[in-house]
Amino acid sequence: MSGTVRGAYAEIDARHLGKSFHRRGSGKAAVNDISMKVTSASAIGIVGESGSGKSTLVRMMCGLLEPTDGSVAYNGAALPGVLSTRGGRREFRSRIQYVAQDTTSSFDPRRTLRDAVRLPAQRLLGMDATAANARVDETLASLELDPSMADRYPTEVSGGQRQRFSIARALVVKPRILLCDEVVSALDVSVQGAILNMLKSYCAAEDCGLVFVSHGLPATAFIADDIVVMRSGVIVEQGTTDDVVERPQDPYTEQLLEAYRGLDEVEQLAVAAAR
Ligand SMILES: Nc1ncnc2c1ncn2[C@@H]1O[C@H](COP(=O)(O)OP(=O)(O)O)[C@@H](O)[C@H]1O
Ligand SMILES: [Mg+2]
Repeated sequence: MSGTVRGAYAEIDARHLGKSFHRRGSGKAAVNDISMKVTSASAIGIVGESGSGKSTLVRMMCGLLEPTDGSVAYNGAALPGVLSTRGGRREFRSRIQYVAQDTTSSFDPRRTLRDAVRLPAQRLLGMDATAANARVDETLASLELDPSMADRYPTEVSGGQRQRFSIARALVVKPRILLCDEVVSALDVSVQGAILNMLKSYCAAEDCGLVFVSHGLPATAFIADDIVVMRSGVIVEQGTTDDVVERPQDPYTEQLLEAYRGLDEVEQLAVAAAR
């Protein structure tokens, strides 16, 4: 049923965000004066070449990195305040989840994948082991992941499988907004497609907002309703996916589109059919 709100509404409002890794006044900012709102109803893609500031931006939006300028509000409350209390941190971390590209360093090699996925349900939702295990099973089922795979260790599965479990680990708490940072960039095209489909159907079924960050326009266009194009720390173009793909306004977007147009017919069809 479209329009039915199954979970609580959540919103991240970034205002005039800036981040400089240099001392003030020296060097170029990684992110410069970006304002953007994402909600539990969004499916936003952030696209731009490597080094354009995408990770810096989303890491500030989910409280992993402190901005040099501007502010981030979660459901109307300024983030430093929200994160200053244990309760506020728990609430924020259970509602807003971030998944990064590198799955090798983000899993403890001594824990099974099941243990890794279960942990946030225990820590952030306060579930006991039995309830958390049931939640893990429910999450794996909703992502069509083989539960027997969960008994393996992170190094015993492929990169694609590990990435699926890192997404499961984020979704086990039923976040309202999921931020995915280059989650498919290191994977084969066929595996990318499977993971994109998994993400897309999960977010639609659960009314979960998605911020999908990628240096590739095809994957982004496949999954996002709206696209923000970043270059050198600023937004050069934003609009609906159809507008950005079909009527790009910025020459840089045109450049990114060349890769998209370069897709073979089969891939183009798959992308179009899924939109
Ligand atoms: N921790 C850091 N220290 C210094 N410079 C950084 C750091 N993180 C990112 N940068 C710089 O900020 C710019 C944007 O990086 P990033 O946000 O990672 O871009 P993207 O995710 O689009 O590839 C780059 O020039 C990068 O070198
Ligand atoms: Mg990045």
